[in-house]
Amino acid sequence: MISFVGAGPGAPDLITLRGAARLAAADVVVWASSLVPAALLDHCRPGVRVHDSKTMTLEDVLAVYAAHADDAVVRLHSGDPAVYGAIQEQIDWCVAAQRDFEIVPGVSSVAAAAAAVQRELTIPGLAQSVVLTRLAGRTAASMPAGESVAAFAVHGATMAVFLSAARPGELQAELLGPASGYGPDTPAVIVVRASWPDEQVVTTTVGSLARDLTATGATMTVLVLVGDALRPPSAGARSHLYDPMYSHTYRIRSIDATTTGRASRRA
Ligand SMILES: C[S@@+](CC[C@H](N)C(=O)[O-])C[C@H]1O[C@@H](n2cnc3c(N)ncnc32)[C@H](O)[C@@H]1O
Repeated sequence: MISFVGAGPGAPDLITLRGAARLAAADVVVWASSLVPAALLDHCRPGVRVHDSKTMTLEDVLAVYAAHADDAVVRLHSGDPAVYGAIQEQIDWCVAAQRDFEIVPGVSSVAAAAAAVQRELTIPGLAQSVVLTRLAGRTAASMPAGESVAAFAVHGATMAVFLSAARPGELQAELLGPASGYGPDTPAVIVVRASWPDEQVVTTTVGSLARDLTATGATMTVLVLVGDALRPPSAGARSHLYDPMYSHTYRIRSIDATTTGRASRRA
């Protein structure tokens, strides 16, 4: 069995229980030391064979899988493997080679960054969508038409920008492109190495993003959150879900809720 395991954003206790169990039972682990802290390997048993994928090609990784047909293999991916995880090509190989595999989800860096900032990314009246995206950069040929940061910026939704910290000027320019839903004073937060011991959180605005991102000195393991959902408390409306005046499947609204502050169920 090959287990594609989400390692989480970095802190060793932010891997799932299932992910930790797969590491503890693994005969072979393939991991990227450039993306995942070594502390994650503390979940492994002594004697496990470890391959660092930092300098490996896909072919190198597949050769490890082929050489360990009867072993428990863990491929550790940062965050959640479904987001910029490069797992699809490995899944395709597993299917073609008739190898059993599973995917163990992980805590994505977008969740870890929001936790570091202590913000919800979807605030009623301000943002009800989150765009996970990146600058095209060196992989421009991989970027489908219409998926540029500037194209998504038009919507003004909350945006989480991955893999783009090395080009701060380009990122700011795209966020403020023609017809953008953001302005220079729209809140932005730079989260460097969320949940790692040296995590940095820099609160800024889209207009100051390039300057402040450059000032962090970080070009990798950086997530940038953008949007009005990041404005200080009270900028948005409260949610309907816990509003005493709002009914839903499990609770009927209380007509006296505004005076008692408590919802009472009506027959
Ligand atoms: C190859 S992608 C993998 C994303 C990962 N699958 C996830 O769900 O977070 C690597 C990028 O994810 C972001 N990233 C991953 N871990 C991070 C962390 N702990 N703090 C901030 N950004 C992180 C950065 O943008 C980094 O360049």
